[in-house]
Amino acid sequence: MQINLEAFGNTTQLAVLLAGDHLRHGFGQKLEIETKTSATDFVTNFDKETEELIINFIRSRHPNSSFIAEESGHTVETAAEVTWVIDPLDGTTNFIHNIPLYATTIACYLNGDVVAAASFLPEQRELFTAIRGKGAFLNGKRMAVSMCDKIEMGIFSTGFPYDLPQNPIPRLKPINETLSKGARIRDLGSAVISLAYVAAGRLDGWFMESPSSWDVAAGLLFCEEANGKITRMDGSPLNVLEPTDVLASNGHLHNPLINILTG
Ligand code: IPD
Ligand code: CA
Ligand code: CA
Repeated sequence: MQINLEAFGNTTQLAVLLAGDHLRHGFGQKLEIETKTSATDFVTNFDKETEELIINFIRSRHPNSSFIAEESGHTVETAAEVTWVIDPLDGTTNFIHNIPLYATTIACYLNGDVVAAASFLPEQRELFTAIRGKGAFLNGKRMAVSMCDKIEMGIFSTGFPYDLPQNPIPRLKPINETLSKGARIRDLGSAVISLAYVAAGRLDGWFMESPSSWDVAAGLLFCEEANGKITRMDGSPLNVLEPTDVLASNGHLHNPLINILTG
């Protein structure tokens, strides 16, 4: 069977744009908020509605699909033609606090790999896209990672897992280490935005322990297709569907970051 990656790519793009339209209506409005895995892990009615919209849209175009989606938690069905890895709203806490930094992110997973991906930031009207082997783009313009090769000149991002209070010291150590080398660190509140920013050369690297597959699947393809490097924090290969820990960088700073993260 001939595989049409462009068609899968188009679906990811149309779906994130559709999702963005819906999320924009909720931003700054009164939300229904619930907690999930911990007292600081939130979900809103807009997370749930947007996920349903996306799944219905994708099913209408690719009926033989399976889904790994944050709010409904489906898993890969081996009989399906293709699997879609979806976070309808990455940056829920930002969204709740009226911080306009949130995104929808969708990756298309086929034969053991992410082959197409799109993420959309509704407030900035920024559409990040990639198809494996064909490059990564921001609003249609090709992206490339930064050239920075000195940690002290770098600007990095990280994310804090929801169970940080249970195990704070080991997790804060690399952050302490990076900061004490003079580098800058941010937590943008959205894994996919950080990864997209690494791909766009706005950030020089991103690392995080225990993200979920839907947080990172699309963003990792953006980084790879923008000539960045992605591994686990110790430099070993990572499994996108079970991302225990992730390091994405511009490549030049990958080894120095591994030394910090494993030191
Ligand atoms: C969260 C964001 C955040 C990361 C958390 C994620 P959510 O996703 O990506 O940056 O630090 O681990 O869960 O809950 O906003 O979809
Ligand atoms: Ca997320
Ligand atoms: Ca989410």
